[in-house]
Amino acid sequence: MFRYLPRAARSTAVGSASVRATARGRYFTSSAASSRQRTSLVLAAAAAAGIAITYKTFFIPSIKADEGTDKYPGTKQPSGQKLISFEEVQKHTKHDDCWVIIDGNVYDVTDFLEQHPGGAEIILANAGKDATKIFKPLHPPDALDTLAPSQHLGPVDPLSMPEPTEEEPTEEELRIEEARKKLPPVDSMLLVNDFEDWAEQILSGTAWNYYKSAADREITAAENQDAFRRYYFRPRMLRDATHGSLNTEFVGMQTALPIFISPAAMAKLGHPLGEVNLTKGAGKCGIVQGISINASCSLDEIMSAREQNQQVMFQIYLNKDRKASEALLKKVTELGASAVIFTVDAAWRSKRTRDVRAKAAVAPPPSSKDQSKSKAPLGVSQAISGYQDTNLTWNDLDFIRKNTNLPIIVKGIQSVEDAELCVQHGVQGIILSNHGGRQCDFAPAPIDLLYEMRINKPELFDKIDVMMDGGVRSGADVVKALALGAKAVGLGRSFLYANGTHGEDGVVRLCQILAEEITNTMRNIGANDISDLKPELVGPAGPWVYGNAPPWAGKSKA
Ligand code: HEM
Ligand SMILES: Cc1cc2nc3c(=O)[nH]c(=O)nc-3n(C[C@H](O)[C@H](O)[C@H](O)COP(=O)(O)O)c2cc1C
Ligand SMILES: *[C@@H]1O[C@H](CO)[C@@H](O)[C@H](O)[C@H]1NC(C)=O
Ligand SMILES: *[C@@H]1O[C@H](CO)[C@@H](O)[C@H](O)[C@H]1NC(C)=O
Ligand SMILES: *[C@@H]1O[C@H](CO)[C@@H](O)[C@H](O)[C@H]1NC(C)=O
Ligand SMILES: *[C@@H]1O[C@H](CO)[C@@H](O)[C@H](O)[C@H]1NC(C)=O
Repeated sequence: MFRYLPRAARSTAVGSASVRATARGRYFTSSAASSRQRTSLVLAAAAAAGIAITYKTFFIPSIKADEGTDKYPGTKQPSGQKLISFEEVQKHTKHDDCWVIIDGNVYDVTDFLEQHPGGAEIILANAGKDATKIFKPLHPPDALDTLAPSQHLGPVDPLSMPEPTEEEPTEEELRIEEARKKLPPVDSMLLVNDFEDWAEQILSGTAWNYYKSAADREITAAENQDAFRRYYFRPRMLRDATHGSLNTEFVGMQTALPIFISPAAMAKLGHPLGEVNLTKGAGKCGIVQGISINASCSLDEIMSAREQNQQVMFQIYLNKDRKASEALLKKVTELGASAVIFTVDAAWRSKRTRDVRAKAAVAPPPSSKDQSKSKAPLGVSQAISGYQDTNLTWNDLDFIRKNTNLPIIVKGIQSVEDAELCVQHGVQGIILSNHGGRQCDFAPAPIDLLYEMRINKPELFDKIDVMMDGGVRSGADVVKALALGAKAVGLGRSFLYANGTHGEDGVVRLCQILAEEITNTMRNIGANDISDLKPELVGPAGPWVYGNAPPWAGKSKA
């Protein structure tokens, strides 16, 4: 039985909106990038994702050592490490001679300019400056590895850096600060969507648009939720349903609730350790988390944040470089994941409309004279999808099977035919999903697909564990899916929103809300345990007459 959990210590959620540098004593924070507007947008992005930002601070060496001699003027530390003065860095601002400072280190990006995925223009706008604040939220942690060692020039002399100025808060920062002040305590969140309502106010534009975003006109994203309105219960009375439990299992994993956290790439929007908040929350709730391999922290960090016996699933895409996928599968297997989720609905790109628009605001497309080279900004989601292979086939399942002995769950199944093919290929589970409406607009709502499968191919439910995600926004939604045959149900955005407003506490509270609603719904329709949830308890909305009646109408046992 799901226990109502003690609340974890109230934490950092409040007050992280203002992330201004404070120069005090011997520490200081690397200073601002040039464009106020862009800087603050990005800053706010990080702040809004709820992050207490720690731009890398560095220690000012107490001894000033001799001048260096070669290539550039600088000072030598006792260690022999040369320091480059800020004055020197400021000289390199041209297309054929361009340096930037990131996290206190100087980089020569002259030869990189034309290769930069974000365009040369935006780097040139920051040439000779400290670009840390604008760089950080837009890049994966390993982005700097794209530069050759010879392009890493060395640390800047911190004493030569200008005093960080107190920046005026931007409109967005103020908006977020105000919203944070008004944010109700986590206990007053009553519905799953309360988190979304507050997330819209509290997250930065960048983060909100990335999370909320869906493909094209967002028809499927809306339909995923709306479709649940087409199913109603047929509650049964006088069945004493007071003693049941919400414990269940899917694909061999035990869970305290019939829900899981759907994998979501964080796309550098939050703190690098962001995934850990979800992992800890999931641990406290006793539910399973699907972890995207595009999580922003290392798998080891996530794994060590788990409680004892806490189960996680790792979600992979197949890399163009299959050797990389092999290595990843090996690692995931060794680290002790309980299942591998293979996402098959995102091999091709899609237009995440809001995301692209938001990105255009942060990093306008270069106003290059050479129009052939200029390109529309990609949006966060496209920027992270480049390495995936686009030519996947059913044979690739055998590739995965060969490289792991973990149960395989195929995520992104959108037709009954493909569900059958999954059975034929011997996978253990499927997640009926359209990626939260983020890939193919006008893909069917997963709850409809589940109903279709129940009516047309009920035998599939005995051959494979069927899960679904997309549009689940209440305990009633969960119960409907379970009654139709789902073993468990995933939530994607709702967990991101809950974490975004209240961090780990929000994740736990979201579980509580769902646990309460699932329990109430089950008791009110006459179900004690998860195994009591049967198709007879649910069906199409409206009277079950003429063509609208499911096969079980009027036939369930009295
Ligand atoms: C100095 C060294 C830099 C390196 C090595 C670098 C590297 C990269 C890489 C590897 C990507 C692709 C990211 C991905 O796969 O998600 C990228 C994207 C991007 N970078 Fe940089 N970058 C640098 C500096 C900058 C600076 C200074 C800015 C802005 C002020 C910037 C703005 C962007 C933007 C906006 C994108 C996203 C492009 C898109 O989504 O269309 N970069 N960068
Ligand atoms: C911001 C975001 C990032 C996502 N990233 C991934 C991902 O990396 N891998 C994946 O399989 N699904 C990803 N998804 C899809 C979710 O796993 C899930 O299918 C979807 O969010 C469910 O719909 P819901 O948000 O309505 O609950 C992502 C979804 C969102 C909203
Ligand atoms: C969860 O919230 C924390 C704190 O607000 C943040 O640092 C982290 O990035 C968030 N994690 C995700 C996956 O969004
Ligand atoms: C996503 O994962 C792939 C494969 O591991 C990696 O090549 C890529 O850089 C990752 N992107 C981000 C943003 O972490
Ligand atoms: C798909 O492309 C990859 C390289 O990107 C290649 O190794 C693989 O053989 C291709 N698969 C098929 C089925 O063509
Ligand atoms: C998120 O996790 C980090 C790392 O464990 C922790 O320091 C931080 O307090 C958490 N934040 C929230 C809001 O839960």
